[in-house]
Amino acid sequence: MFTLAHISDVHLGPLPKLTFLELLSKRITGYVNWHRNRGKHLFGNTLERLLEEIVKAHPSHLAITGDLVNLAADVEMDAAAQWLHAFHQPRDVSVVPGNHDAYVPGALDRAIQLWKPWMSGDEPRDDGHLFPYLRVRDNIALIGISTATATPPFMASGFFGPNQARRFERLLRETSARGFFRVVMIHHPPIRGATSNYKRMIGIRRFHAAMHMDGAELVLHGHTHLNTTYWIEGRTGRVPVVGIAAGSQSFGGKKPPAAYNLFHIGGERGRWTLRRERFGLGSDNETFARETEDMLLGA
Ligand SMILES: [Fe+2]
Repeated sequence: MFTLAHISDVHLGPLPKLTFLELLSKRITGYVNWHRNRGKHLFGNTLERLLEEIVKAHPSHLAITGDLVNLAADVEMDAAAQWLHAFHQPRDVSVVPGNHDAYVPGALDRAIQLWKPWMSGDEPRDDGHLFPYLRVRDNIALIGISTATATPPFMASGFFGPNQARRFERLLRETSARGFFRVVMIHHPPIRGATSNYKRMIGIRRFHAAMHMDGAELVLHGHTHLNTTYWIEGRTGRVPVVGIAAGSQSFGGKKPPAAYNLFHIGGERGRWTLRRERFGLGSDNETFARETEDMLLGA
């Protein structure tokens, strides 16, 4: 049995004091918004509590589907790298970037530079691209996609372009031939209508086409800060697409409080089983309790 933990949108805080020059960019809108809304309900020790719970569960691997930071200032990117180092083994933690990690032009390059050990495949790709990356643990293929791209103010969209889609299709085909259980990690939900227009992923149709050709067994995403399950058509059946609340959200905000999923993967090629347990933060802002337990695949 392989247990995969999933968290997302940890938005490590608190927000740094930015210089005037750093604010002369898209960051100014984010900074104002953050002080108006997000700062009130994110942070505290929620994320620390959540990670303590996950450590107690001894998962085989942890997937983090993006938005490690807020405005992608250098000091935040460095802090996120230090936070990742606390996990000790990059081989046990896989990260994909979110729109906040690419908040302004150049930020994604910096994220890649600093976070690469957690955000790259077992082998360098032979075409020189970083995404999608492939990691294989037991019979589980972990495929990391990047939809992160700098956008104009008030936009939070993601981009899944034709070149990455082609590489993704090839990877799905290869990992299918090798008989792996395939987990796709992506920040933006590849589902039409899952977010408002200004936050959507461009390239949803491309993603669906790839899934329809070669399938996968599970898709994990963040971005919406919601606990959701959608289904999309794969080659041999429906594929669960699961989103999770923000990892640092305290109880009592507009969005659901912090949560994590544990996916228990068993069985073998053609007969996979997938059981999901979701744990959420309670009104005491301290304890996590199981909210959902269900079979997503198999009996
Ligand atoms: Fe996001």
